[in-house]
Amino acid sequence: MMYQALCTEFYDADKKFADEDEINFYKKFLKKNDVILEPMCGSGRLLIPFLQQGYTVHGIDNSIAMLKSCKDRAAKLDLHPALFEEAIETMSLPNQYNIILIALGSFQLLYPRSSAFNALQNFKKHLLPKGKLILDMFIPWDALYENNEEEVSEKEVIIPEGIIKHQSHSKANKQEQFYYSESVYTKIINNKIVAEEKEQMHVSWYYRYEMELILEKYGFKNIECREEFFRNENHMIFIAENA
Ligand SMILES: C[S@@+](CC[C@H](N)C(=O)[O-])C[C@H]1O[C@@H](n2cnc3c(N)ncnc32)[C@H](O)[C@@H]1O
Repeated sequence: MMYQALCTEFYDADKKFADEDEINFYKKFLKKNDVILEPMCGSGRLLIPFLQQGYTVHGIDNSIAMLKSCKDRAAKLDLHPALFEEAIETMSLPNQYNIILIALGSFQLLYPRSSAFNALQNFKKHLLPKGKLILDMFIPWDALYENNEEEVSEKEVIIPEGIIKHQSHSKANKQEQFYYSESVYTKIINNKIVAEEKEQMHVSWYYRYEMELILEKYGFKNIECREEFFRNENHMIFIAENA
């Protein structure tokens, strides 16, 4: 299971909202009256700032906790986005969109690859003719070094009542281009553990020319790949048109 209650609380304390540089990058590809779908929108890290700037963005995600947080965080700003609780692999929404945008490598959570391919077919169905798919992706370069496939990490965030710790162990499979991670979130208030949540996830990665061929195979054209730097990270962003 991924993105349950404690993970959501950790995510919101850790990441809050997208910065101007990320927003401004995406704005280059958007028109003000575009209707945008953000699959895997989570708790609205990107969706909410876009709504604040007057864009129309619908969200879809399969985590009840993340969607609830998105709804609550938006409501505090008097915003009421259309949010759909569905898995990307099987999504069927009543609308078609000018833009489908997936931020922060979220597409890479679709595993195995057949799930990612189903998602691409669904994105095509939900795009208007000439609509654009924008995918933010990354390659975990560090894991590719010899003897560097395993990573143990620990991070904590401060919440009003205490802290949430996230400890994770991940192992990369370079042949198959994915890493698998097992982690645990621990909420600590007054030095006492009050909640614990386990999480497992697979994260796939795709190289540039491989991804371009995949996008072509699933019905996209005029594919552009941009190297960008924001959030202190390298991003490989694909922009592809519905053919
Ligand atoms: C890393 S979070 C990113 C959220 C958001 N894209 C952002 O930029 O902050 C990944 C999100 O993908 C969602 N997700 C993962 N697998 C999914 C699936 N198969 N269908 C729909 N949503 C999924 C999770 O619930 C989570 O909210």
